[in-house]
Amino acid sequence: MELTRDEERILDGRGGEGKRKAMEILVAMGEINEAQRLIPISSVQVSGVSYKTIGDHGLEFLKDWAAHDIKVKAFTTLNPGGLDIDIAGEMGYSKKFIKKQEQIIDIYKSMGITLSCTCTPYLAGNLPEFGESVAWAESSSIIFANSVIGARTNVESGVSALASAIIGKTPYYGFHIDENRRPTFEVEVRATMEDMSDYAALGYGIGQEHDGIPLFRGIKPAKDGMKLMGAALATGSISMFHVEGVTPEYIEVEKTEKITFEQKELKEAYDALNTTEDPDIICIGCPHCSIDEAMNVIKADPKREVWIFTTRQNKPVLEEHARGKNVKIICDTCMVVSPLEDLGIKSVGVNSAKAAFYCRNLSGLDVRFDSLKKLIS
Ligand code: F3S
Repeated sequence: MELTRDEERILDGRGGEGKRKAMEILVAMGEINEAQRLIPISSVQVSGVSYKTIGDHGLEFLKDWAAHDIKVKAFTTLNPGGLDIDIAGEMGYSKKFIKKQEQIIDIYKSMGITLSCTCTPYLAGNLPEFGESVAWAESSSIIFANSVIGARTNVESGVSALASAIIGKTPYYGFHIDENRRPTFEVEVRATMEDMSDYAALGYGIGQEHDGIPLFRGIKPAKDGMKLMGAALATGSISMFHVEGVTPEYIEVEKTEKITFEQKELKEAYDALNTTEDPDIICIGCPHCSIDEAMNVIKADPKREVWIFTTRQNKPVLEEHARGKNVKIICDTCMVVSPLEDLGIKSVGVNSAKAAFYCRNLSGLDVRFDSLKKLIS
């Protein structure tokens, strides 16, 4: 990989050990992926925030890196952590968990990272322009950036995203290059899409069975539907999709494999994720709820207890509307990266296939995956 004189200096350690380590990571990634050079990025989304997912090993790794007094160069936002500090006490998290989570957040703060703590950075002040290169971690935000916004990001890990944040650059390969963003197969959707959760089931059904970049035909999802669908597609290895007439880089290509998605496959996607009929609580907001999604829940005046996970910016206004209703507004975390299993919760109802997948596989919870309407009635 060709480096500029400045980049060489950083790699030689003349910008300090923290930057040297970041440059070493980017150069290694670039060489593995046959990148010719580094390119500037306009923003970064860093994952690896919840103590539940990174544990002591991750915390020590961050402490060691931060000990070199590093600061991010690019505008950088943060994924959800393990709790909402405003209500951590009443929720019943252990003192140890709260302390460790605070340490992680303090480290990211010391680096100059914006403490957005959301997986929807594009709803919280980190909205790139069409065509801009960024370095985002968190699979649901990566696929949303590539597909719905038309920004360009590879699938970054928490570590590679942090390295990009420190240097302000990323290796030029993969989704940063035009020809790697074209559809590789087509999906004609013949199933009826009646609810947002149907888009999540569609994403899950395709994401678990296929690789590459799908071009969907026969659907017209709104942005919130694409948020749920993208998150579910990314439970497999898909990081970009197109929807005919909807997404900004939709393009026709010749000679791609064509498949159909029928009503039977929609039902199979729901069946594959469901393990219970009667969950302890309902959790909405994977990815984090937009104001519209959250207001739909609140206006429905749920009969059962619903926890809405959303951004810190949305919380005060939603709390106003939720007063006196069976709804708790929670920010900075989610039903997956928060240790619900340690709070005595054994099962959750969700309208997100991603949440269903990880609540089962990461947290060992039983799951009801269904439409919002059915969950809250
Ligand atoms: Fe976001 Fe948590 Fe889902 S980080 S995409 S709400 S698993």
